[in-house]
Amino acid sequence: MKILAIESSCDEFAAAVVEDGTRVLAETIYSQIDLHKVFGGIVPEIAARSHVEVAIPVVEECLVKLGSANSGDFDIWNEIDAIAAVNRPGLSGSLLIGTLTARTLALLKNKPIYAIDHMEGHVYASWLSDSNRIKFPILALVVSGGHTQIMLFRSHADYEAIGETQDDAIGEVFDKVAKVLGLPYPGGPSISEAAERGDPEKYQLPIPKCANPLNFSFSGLKTAVLRAVQTEIGVDHTFPSFELAARLNAFQRDDFAASFQSTAVKILTETMKRAVDQYGAETILLAGGVAANKELRNQLQEVFGDKMIIPELRYCTDNAAMIGSRAYFLSQYAKPDNPLDLEIGVN
Ligand code: KG4
Ligand code: ZN
Repeated sequence: MKILAIESSCDEFAAAVVEDGTRVLAETIYSQIDLHKVFGGIVPEIAARSHVEVAIPVVEECLVKLGSANSGDFDIWNEIDAIAAVNRPGLSGSLLIGTLTARTLALLKNKPIYAIDHMEGHVYASWLSDSNRIKFPILALVVSGGHTQIMLFRSHADYEAIGETQDDAIGEVFDKVAKVLGLPYPGGPSISEAAERGDPEKYQLPIPKCANPLNFSFSGLKTAVLRAVQTEIGVDHTFPSFELAARLNAFQRDDFAASFQSTAVKILTETMKRAVDQYGAETILLAGGVAANKELRNQLQEVFGDKMIIPELRYCTDNAAMIGSRAYFLSQYAKPDNPLDLEIGVN
């Protein structure tokens, strides 16, 4: 079964054709990072406007790639069995453009359509890399710019969140700490790069405790970094945070990046260990944009060994192939959605 999938929940517009949930036959992605860089974060209106401009060209380019892979003179739409699009969660304007594109194509080309949850999609990035090693029950650590969750999958159809953040998402904290340190947007990759040069033991940062040991809390860690930077340069808490970076030297900045990253990775790994002890799992998955973090990948691999599956780097951050994979496994037990009344959900 070949599914044309569309992902547009945030600042990327992506299309992919995925076969049987595991093989990527064609894909195209348009990233808006350069449009938002000057603002130091994503501007939702700019994201939605850009999606309007690139939606059809991205889908067309993906289908042209599929056509050249097949080489032949035929209607490429005959190759497509279904359409999938992310309809939740995300930025409302961004979600609308992708779902409207998918709904229109489903009606025009008379194809079944599946609405997909973005976070569930992230988990399925692993089926694109190593589907043969994945066995239920699965525990998945889902870490992105908007979410931090531990999900238990008993099967493709039976799953639930068993732990989640009580405040900030971990990706958001990487982005905010990067701002304080004067590192460029997006913060995750720039913190991990700076951390490679820094000393992770230099600054002691707190490990928060939650009433439910499978939940996370990161707002205290974010504030702790801010206070530690203020102390280091000798100013009090009233000093404006956007003026701090200019007073840090390169060594201090790299040491803060390394100390923050190692604390964040420790919190994620320790919480995941508790989840595995409590629920047991045949396979442990890592998913979401923060899954691109090298230190996190290494730590989890070391702790969970053969049970751990880590997706390819390019399928960690937002992409359409993971959505096509999730849609395939969903289509094995669920009915398609009605393209005329498919709504978006922002949470
Ligand atoms: O999943 P994603 O692409 O978009 C959302 O669904 O939110 O995740 C984006 C997040 C951003 O916060 C970004 O800073 C973070 O993933 N990220 C990283 C790394 N690469 C991206 N965080 C830590 N280390 C990285 N190497
Ligand atoms: Zn994402």
